[in-house]
Amino acid sequence: MSRKKIVVAYSGGLDTSVMVKWLSERYDAEIITVTGNLGETAELEGLEEKAAKTGAAKSYVVDLKKEFITEYVWSALKAGALYEGSYPLATAIGRPLLAKLLADIALAEGADTVAHGCTGKGNDQVRFEVGLQTLAPDLSILAPLRTWEFKSREEEIDYAIEHNIPVKVKKDSPYSIDENLWGIAIECGVLEDPTQAPPEDAYQLTINPKDAPETAETVTILFEKGVPVLLNNSVSDPVQIVSTLNKIAGKHGVGRLDNIENRVVGIKSREIYEAPGATVLHKAHLELEKLILDKDSFRYKQQVSNTVANLIYDGLWFSPLFKALMAFVDSTQENISGEVVLSLHKGNVTVLSRDSKFSLYRKDLATYTEDDTFDHKAAEGFLKIYGLPFKTQSQIFAKIEVTV
Ligand code: ARG
Repeated sequence: MSRKKIVVAYSGGLDTSVMVKWLSERYDAEIITVTGNLGETAELEGLEEKAAKTGAAKSYVVDLKKEFITEYVWSALKAGALYEGSYPLATAIGRPLLAKLLADIALAEGADTVAHGCTGKGNDQVRFEVGLQTLAPDLSILAPLRTWEFKSREEEIDYAIEHNIPVKVKKDSPYSIDENLWGIAIECGVLEDPTQAPPEDAYQLTINPKDAPETAETVTILFEKGVPVLLNNSVSDPVQIVSTLNKIAGKHGVGRLDNIENRVVGIKSREIYEAPGATVLHKAHLELEKLILDKDSFRYKQQVSNTVANLIYDGLWFSPLFKALMAFVDSTQENISGEVVLSLHKGNVTVLSRDSKFSLYRKDLATYTEDDTFDHKAAEGFLKIYGLPFKTQSQIFAKIEVTV
């Protein structure tokens, strides 16, 4: 009989490096590491060799940047998905794609188990495991960090040294950082005290707005069917659009967030986020929708945006409700095509101009000048009927001496 195969979600950091060795010993299994590149700035080079030295039989490092942006990030952008009103969900959008990669490789390799390095109180375990259960329901899932004997980072480091696991044990940042093209999440250390402002060294991608350039910078974004297709009349590659905007907006201190948020597992956590490109793109996209969507669709979509954001956050990307709501979202995006010009200045994003051939804005209806074509007299009859239910209620209540 061939040996058991375990596919491991691998980042090359301390936890997943120790996990590879620990699993191979405990289960006498062949370990296959899998790393998806979602555009983090951290070095992914040499990861295969590192995995091999740690005891992996085989390793995959897969560039998912394009798929991440076009199939995942653009969906969230079209949906206007901002968790609890502001977090653009970078980590939460990345996890389902990584779950899909793990499932695909596990099935192709004939493995029956997938292991991940998430802890027992985060959201990421939920996103991985619900994704895996949906995409490959017969796979078993292992989450060693929830059960293993190591109580601290130091104990893991001792184990790594004992087993010749090559981990860079640097006195590294006191923060736990998760990054991809859509943004970065920073946790731990002093950030755990919500009464304290984040120290400057917590921020990785953006300049403090007070140190940002005195002069504003303008960006022009062209959208087609709700998706950015051209930045500054020159950048058309989806990955480049996001990474270029991250640089430009980051330089102007745009996209910093300091949030208290509700986790899936019932606790509140304090999260620092930086999402310069996402902040600009959400603002521009919403602006076009304001210009183009009819009132009822716009209002209804706000509710859908909120539900989609909750579903993404809660690890339900592959759920039937998510699919159904995205069908609604896509239908609303049919005419979301046009151009938005924004100004970036010391942490602020301001819309300078918006234009679309589908714009429902009519100057002759909106103007207060003599060019006005709006039928003011018609408002009189409209209001008689529009206010009728309330007038009726007040009249009836007056008779029976009830106040509204
Ligand atoms: N709180 C954020 C989320 O749930 C960020 C999580 C960051 N993940 C991590 N493993 N550090 O999406």
